[in-house]
Formats: sequence, C-alpha cells, structure tokens
Amino acid sequence: MTHYALAIDGPAGAGKSSVAKMLAKRLGYTYIDTGAMYRATTHKALKLGKNIEDPQAFSFLDDTTMTFKNGVLYMDGQRMDDKIRSNEVSNNVSIVASHIPVRNKLVELQQQMAENHDVVMDGRDIGTVVLPDADLKIFLTASVEERAKRRHQENVSMGIESDLEQLKKEIARRDGIDSSRKYNPLKKAEDAIYLDTSNLDMDSVASTIYDLFINVINTKESEEHGS
Ligand code: DC
Repeated sequence: MTHYALAIDGPAGAGKSSVAKMLAKRLGYTYIDTGAMYRATTHKALKLGKNIEDPQAFSFLDDTTMTFKNGVLYMDGQRMDDKIRSNEVSNNVSIVASHIPVRNKLVELQQQMAENHDVVMDGRDIGTVVLPDADLKIFLTASVEERAKRRHQENVSMGIESDLEQLKKEIARRDGIDSSRKYNPLKKAEDAIYLDTSNLDMDSVASTIYDLFINVINTKESEEHGS
C-alpha cells in the first residue's frame, strides 16, 4: 500500500510545527516532528554525559526507540515534551544535528515512519533528503524578527524563561549553522513551493497548503484510475 507524504521544511520559528500539526489533524495523517528527534537525541546525550562535539559519541542511538503518538515524540517509551525545549537543548542541538552518524540514523528512522503511515513531516531536509518523492513539498520561512517574536511567545506560554533580543541572536546563529553545514543543510528543494509567512496567520497558511495538497492527491488518484 502506498502512503502519502507532505514535506514541510524551513528555518526555526517559520511556523512549520503549528501548520504541520493543523494539517495532520485535518488530513488524519501522522505528524512527524523531526526537530524533536534531534532535540531528544541532544537531551539523551547530555543526560548520559557524552561529549556532544564528538560525532562518534552517539552510538546509543542504535538502542534508542523513537515513536510518535498524537504528534508527541516518545523516546524509549518516555514522553518527550518540555524537556527537549529547554534552553540547554536548544543551544546544543545544532551541533548534534551536524554530525553525520546522527543524521544517518535519524533519517533512516524518519524514512521508516513514512513507509508505514501517511505523514506530514517537518524539518530542514525532508524535501531534499528524507522524502525526495514526497507528494508535496513546502518551504516555509519568515524574517528573523518575526520568528524570534513567535518563539518568544511560545516560550512564555510554556513558562520557559525567554529574552527576545537573545532569541534573535540565537535564531540567526542557528540559521547559520543549519544552512552552512556540509551534510544535509537547510535548503529549499528545487520542486518545493516557497511561502514567506512573516505577514500571514497560520490558519490561512495551513488552508493554502491543504488546498494544494488535496489537489495533488486528487490528480494522482484520478491518474491511477485512468480517468
Ligand atoms: O525545528 P527545531 O527548532 O525543533 O529543530 C531543532 C534543531 O534540529 C535545529 O537546529 C535544526 C535541526 N534539525 C535538522 O537539522 N534537521 C531536521 N530535519 C530537523 C531539525
């Protein structure tokens, strides 16, 4: 049985996760938050006292399980939510995500998830590396100011300490690392649709993507049935 996939890539704070969540709910698909997988890996490495600069320090991933239930990541059976949003994890995750062994392992897990379910998957390299044959690819972005403002509001609503100016600097720094890393950088796939959400509300962004996706699926299904 073939499964459908909607890939959403873009930098931190562009609105990927809220849009992806809304779309997964509306489509009845599984939402895969790949950023959460890099964050959970970082959290576990820090907890185990690993040297996160060392690409070889992540062999624990071979015995680590990751699954999604209702859009929430469970690692080794444990619900991963606030723990992986801490400042400590946020400030170290780009380094962890730059290691080839980590990316290879997590990309493999993500591909297995998409083989078994209809998915809305968000991240940085979904359209380019993880699901190059996704039915629709979207590249979402927004200005650094707007993205920092959104992350700040998110932090405040979750009771996480937050400083807007500091967030702007961190977002710009993370963008730099994510886009310039040699292996699987943040990059728009050639066939992805580019959407700047700086001045748009997330409901209308989700509706636009929903209509595009349904159109693609309907076209594919009518081609398959020869009508
Ligand atoms: O989307 P986020 O802020 O939760 O992502 C956390 C980090 O993981 C971010 O620095 C980029 C990295 N990441 C990645 O390299 N590839 C992905 N597919 C998803 C996230």
